[in-house]
Amino acid sequence: MTGSYGQIGTELIEALRAKYGGENIIATGRKKPPEILREDGPYYRLDVLDVDHLHNMLVDYDIDIILHNASVLSAVGEKNPQLAYRTNVEGSYNVLEAARILKLDQVMIPSSIAAFGPSTPKENTPNDVIMRPTSAYGVTKVFIELWGEYYTQRYDVDFRSLRYPGIISSEALPGGGTTDYAVEIFYEALKNKKYTSFLAKDAMLPMMYMPDCIKSTIDLIEADKKSLDHQSFNVTAMSFTPEDIAAEIKKHIPDFEISYEPDFRQKIAESWPRSIDDSTAREEWGWSPDYDLEAMTKDMLEKLSKRLGIKY
Ligand code: SER
Repeated sequence: MTGSYGQIGTELIEALRAKYGGENIIATGRKKPPEILREDGPYYRLDVLDVDHLHNMLVDYDIDIILHNASVLSAVGEKNPQLAYRTNVEGSYNVLEAARILKLDQVMIPSSIAAFGPSTPKENTPNDVIMRPTSAYGVTKVFIELWGEYYTQRYDVDFRSLRYPGIISSEALPGGGTTDYAVEIFYEALKNKKYTSFLAKDAMLPMMYMPDCIKSTIDLIEADKKSLDHQSFNVTAMSFTPEDIAAEIKKHIPDFEISYEPDFRQKIAESWPRSIDDSTAREEWGWSPDYDLEAMTKDMLEKLSKRLGIKY
């Protein structure tokens, strides 16, 4: 896995190692890994833009499947589109090329709700629909989907992709996305009982709790290739606005208060779907989420309060 120390990688690596054995899952990233990842199995520093190093690792460790999680997210991508291009487009190109040349068994690269744009229907966005994103990040995700699918039909590379919605997690913080508010709000609710949202109160976006993110990823990796008619899949678990999540947190922390100061990320959010139709994933590989807003909020507060040592 690349990007193993990111928001998704940190928890996905742990789940994969618990399932397939620590020594079978190689964590790579550009930073020093967190303590927990150093104990369970091998980790190496790898920059996906270093093609020789990438190929050497894949050969030396006899890798079958790459999960390419290293990515620049939407808000950072809007501040630095050239960085998003290099990391997301060139990085994914390098990984798909390595899979073609070295004949790997499978490549999984995440896509995102950001692959959709203002001309896409915003409610119950179907799996197969117009995709004309207006964020740099979104453009890189459309490239990944299309280049991956092209490599499948042209070179028989088994490419798979999930269009993740905003992911809410209690372990690692997200790094520079538009949906980050839905994680930050929990930290601030516990620490200060107030939060200023950088999205407007009615900015509805599709979301998912980390256990469902992990489940969807492992289920798609393990899905029988013969049952898949698609390679890039919408997945979702819930949709809410900053106002909705604040009201849900208030049920547990009654004096919690939210205020709103929308910034440049509001424009990105407005270009994305408000809710997602994930029936294609449900039909082709049996996707179904476990957590809704209520269950996620309760679990997040319990986990975070334990980790931060703050009672509520
Ligand atoms: N969570 C991501 C972001 O906000 C969306 O893929 O950038």
